[in-house]
Amino acid sequence: MTIHALLALLADGEIHSGQSIASALGVSRTAVWKQIKRVQAEGYEVEKIRGHGYRLVKSIDFLSGPRILAGLPPQISDRILLQIFSETDSTNTEVSRMLVAAEPGQIPVCMANRQSAGRGRHGRVWQSPGDDNIYLSLGCRLAGGYSALDGLSLVVGVSLVEALRALEVPHLALKWPNDLLLNGAKLAGVLIELRGELEGAVQVVVGVGLNVHMQGQQDIDQTWTSLAQACPERRWVRNEIAAGLITALTANIDAFAERGFGAFREAWQSLDVFSGCAVSSSSGELSGIGRGVDDAGNYLIEGSGGIEAVRAGELSLRAAS
Ligand code: BTN
Repeated sequence: MTIHALLALLADGEIHSGQSIASALGVSRTAVWKQIKRVQAEGYEVEKIRGHGYRLVKSIDFLSGPRILAGLPPQISDRILLQIFSETDSTNTEVSRMLVAAEPGQIPVCMANRQSAGRGRHGRVWQSPGDDNIYLSLGCRLAGGYSALDGLSLVVGVSLVEALRALEVPHLALKWPNDLLLNGAKLAGVLIELRGELEGAVQVVVGVGLNVHMQGQQDIDQTWTSLAQACPERRWVRNEIAAGLITALTANIDAFAERGFGAFREAWQSLDVFSGCAVSSSSGELSGIGRGVDDAGNYLIEGSGGIEAVRAGELSLRAAS
């Protein structure tokens, strides 16, 4: 029996008798007791109620592979190789390993409850506390070389919006190249890593960090929000959200491989938080009015000398003050 299996049973916060846990997991009651101690040592508060059993004092939104797979359309779940970790350094690192071993057509996906070395863009740390958020990476091989991948990160942004709109999340917008904003604060970030070519195709790892339950002070240097913070009246279930993300990402990456970014340009423009606003590049060398993106996903800034294109990966943008 693993801590993971025991936590899955206790996650609902209900009382579970030692005997029912032992039968469900096929172990002795002494083994249950030992694992309860390990769960407590991991920082979970487990109450022992004399004569009744054990209960997690605070229920958790437990990540479950079978539940995520059950939420996918069959034509997608048939292709997904899903691994879930209670903790790993970075799901991007895990999925790049899975990608090397994957058969053509298979899509490796890795999720973790917690990351010990989550990576953000520009070498930043991505804070990844346990039980709170979604840390998800998906791997694929795309033909056409590196230049054909311009625009992919924007397609990922559009996919996040599609998945969350299906769950009726309001007020979403995208900040070029791919930050997802809710009410103007960062809800999710995307880190795409390219791992070199294998048999003519680039190995692509798409990592998504999406704040779900996170609340309060965290050591984060940008204005952020979470689904629970923005919509506290809703009950957010990570398995359900993850299934929607995997579905949208898989379908849209397939469409991107076939038709390129042009097929997504309009959708992206309609979500552009900077459209018609004064913007400047983070280095300060370009400034003007945000005019959306071209067919390669470059951001267009209209300045005094006309329209200039900013290449994804080169710069980030901010509202001009
Ligand atoms: C950003 O800086 O906005 C991008 C953040 C990307 C974080 C995700 S969490 C899952 C995956 N694993 C990582 O280490 N990073 C990405």
